[in-house]
Amino acid sequence: MKTYSIALIPGDGIGRDVTDAAWSVLQVAAKTCGFALNGTEFPWSCEFYRKTGRMMPEDGIETLRTFDAILLGAVGWPAEVPDAVSLHGLLLPIRKAFVQYANIRPHRLLPGVQGPLRAEAFDILCIRENTEGEYSGAGGRVHQGTNDEVAVETSIFTRTGVERILRFGFEQARSRRGKLASVTKSNAQKYSMVFWDEITDRLSAEFPDVEVSSYHIDAMAARMVMAPESLDVVVASNLFGDILTDLGAAIQGGLGFAASANINPRRDAPSMFEPVHGSAPDIAGLGIANPIAAIWSGAMMLDHLGEKDAAARIIAAMETATARGIGISPGKDRTETITAGIIAALS
Ligand code: NAD
Ligand code: IPM
Ligand code: MN
Repeated sequence: MKTYSIALIPGDGIGRDVTDAAWSVLQVAAKTCGFALNGTEFPWSCEFYRKTGRMMPEDGIETLRTFDAILLGAVGWPAEVPDAVSLHGLLLPIRKAFVQYANIRPHRLLPGVQGPLRAEAFDILCIRENTEGEYSGAGGRVHQGTNDEVAVETSIFTRTGVERILRFGFEQARSRRGKLASVTKSNAQKYSMVFWDEITDRLSAEFPDVEVSSYHIDAMAARMVMAPESLDVVVASNLFGDILTDLGAAIQGGLGFAASANINPRRDAPSMFEPVHGSAPDIAGLGIANPIAAIWSGAMMLDHLGEKDAAARIIAAMETATARGIGISPGKDRTETITAGIIAALS
């Protein structure tokens, strides 16, 4: 039987609950479709940091490299470990080391889910650059603690990095409704974002079948609320994509619904699948986290591994469950009830 080895990193807070939920749904789908998922769990988290002084062991990246894919819950417990330490110690290095440059985040309403907007028929695929830009980690502070202090955070945009994410976006647009929206702030950021616009223009000549529009990030934020149905594929830099995808989550009913795939399109290292949301300290331990985002991310993992039928079955089961009213009212159904509802719809 075909067997995939999956690294499981539940992480912090509700990361544990939603990873367990996704894993149990994935196991049922694998069994139904005749393949096996062999999971190895890693306790890397803020608790691990407290015990060891590191978010993951020194050879953590090399350990993960041997897996077919990574399923992650959430990282961060700011009451005990500063976010900049925990995220730069685990999540962000994985995305970078494995060149998971395409962060794919779908935004649409599942049946029965009441979003905050009048518009309901939207289907947006946000594609976020995931390895450079505003998250390059370059910069520093001088004269720390004095009135002369200066903090510099340098965004690094490379031709390779910008070209490959835009090309990825064009290809996705071609396989969907043929529309690409490129997001910048080139009216104010005159180096990196003008560079981004130039590359968008040049690539558009290679994809004459794709209709391209460029938007500034502020206007795009408004458009996602006012006219989400006008959007198909949206490509943005690391930080802009981060912000737009929490907005995307909001219009699809909340963070509990927003899935995410960190893809290495070259397939020379594992890709990582995780919900858009974080560890949600405000509801951690209550058993009410919505596992749909994590389950949907798990379906994206199976799709990436080539198990298209199993992935489609999970999406269909999620849709059947929400159409039955399961998991659609935030905080009403418990995590385990939603998970059981999706598993029931799978079989
Ligand atoms: P968050 O996404 O954890 O929570 C924001 C709000 O959404 C909270 O009110 C929370 O209860 C709610 N929420 C999130 N997921 C939910 C779910 N599945 N079901 C129901 N409600 C849900 O964002 P935050 O509070 O800014 O961050 C908390 C911690 O998580 C921080 O340490 C942050 O850095 C980290 N974080 C990690 C990731 C990740 O690992 N990918 C993503 C975002 C934030
Ligand atoms: C996300 C998260 C992360 C990001 C944080 C936790 C570093 O917000 O995956 O959207 O900004 O990429
Ligand atoms: Mn985010």
